[in-house]
Parts: sequence; C-alpha cells; structure tokens
Amino acid sequence: MTHPVLEAIYERRSIREFTDAEVSPAYLREIIKAGIWAPSGLNNQPWRFVIITDQTKKQQLSETTHYDHIVLGAKALIAVYLDTDAMYDEVKDHQSAGSCIENMLLAVHALGLGAVWLGQILKKKDQVNSILELEAKYDLMAVLAIGHPVHRNQKSSRKEIDEFLLKTI
Ligand SMILES: Cc1cc2nc3c(=O)[nH]c(=O)nc-3n(C[C@H](O)[C@H](O)[C@H](O)COP(=O)(O)O)c2cc1C
Repeated sequence: MTHPVLEAIYERRSIREFTDAEVSPAYLREIIKAGIWAPSGLNNQPWRFVIITDQTKKQQLSETTHYDHIVLGAKALIAVYLDTDAMYDEVKDHQSAGSCIENMLLAVHALGLGAVWLGQILKKKDQVNSILELEAKYDLMAVLAIGHPVHRNQKSSRKEIDEFLLKTI
C-alpha cells in the first residue's frame, strides 16, 4: 500500500548533520502548524514552542547537552513545551506532546528538511528555560534540531511486527 502519509512515516529518519542552507521562517511556522494539528485530550492544545535561530542562544543551548554538535550544526531549533497551566491530565498531556512532536517531524520530512528529536537535553531543562527566559510553568518536552540534510543515507531498523503484537483475538 502506498500513500503519502505512510511514505513519510516509513521514510522519515533522524537527521543529525545539516548543510549551511537557511531554513525559511515560513517553513518553521508550517512545522509548528503541523504540530498543533496533533490530537490532544479535550482538544486542550497544551503545547508551546520557542523558535531559536540566534547563534548566541544556540551556543548557550549546546552547552546543556552531549549533543552539542547537533545543536550547533542545526540551522534552527524548536523547543517544544507543555504549558502546565493548560494541562488537565499528566499522562494524556504527555501523550499529546509526543503526537505533536511526531507530527512536526513528519512535516519536516514533507518539506524536504531534516530533523532529530533531542531528548537528552531534558536533563538540563531548568537551564534551557533560563537560557530561553521562560517561567518554570513551561515544561520542556523536546528540542528539535532542524536543517537541510547533508545526505539521506541514514539507516534505521525496527523489530518484526510479531515481536510487538501480544495477541489477535
Ligand atoms: C524521546 C526521544 C528522545 C530522543 N533523544 C535523542 C537525543 O537526545 N539525541 C539524538 O541524537 N537522538 C535522539 N532521539 C532520536 C532516536 O535516537 C531515533 O528516533 C531512533 O534511533 C530511531 O531512528 P529514526 O528516527 O531514524 O527512525 C530521540 C528520540 C525520542 C523519541
């Protein structure tokens, strides 16, 4: 079966090396738009975003993670937050953050760009908030490093479906 959505799901790879080409502000807004069209419980839309292209901020953020080279190499970063004031259910709001981020990654792919979901940086999320001058009520979920891929030879794999499927009743 082929369908553009399925193709994007299967073809999307984490991209960690980027060219020097800029990412247009319109594309960054489109990526966020795709994120906010994710489902959320009660349609509460608890996500918030910060777009970072400023070199000084990128440098500061790079010092909060092992993945400093990815942060520095990316042309843009989007920090994805939950606004804890907008949350209604711990589990469901975190699930909607995941669906938002995946939508964003698929939009990145559809736009011909590349991105990687950075989670390790969450260990320093308080420091990230301080660099981005955000109140503690914003809870960092991920930072997406975005740019034009140097290449698309990334390989990934998944276990067989039957290893996941508990039963068909
Ligand atoms: C919650 C989460 C956290 C992740 N954190 C990082 C990270 O900090 N650094 C990184 O290089 N990749 C990170 N990744 C990307 C995964 O390594 C990647 O999705 C996985 O290896 C599968 O590769 P693929 O995305 O190309 O299919 C993260 C992915 C998820 C979902």
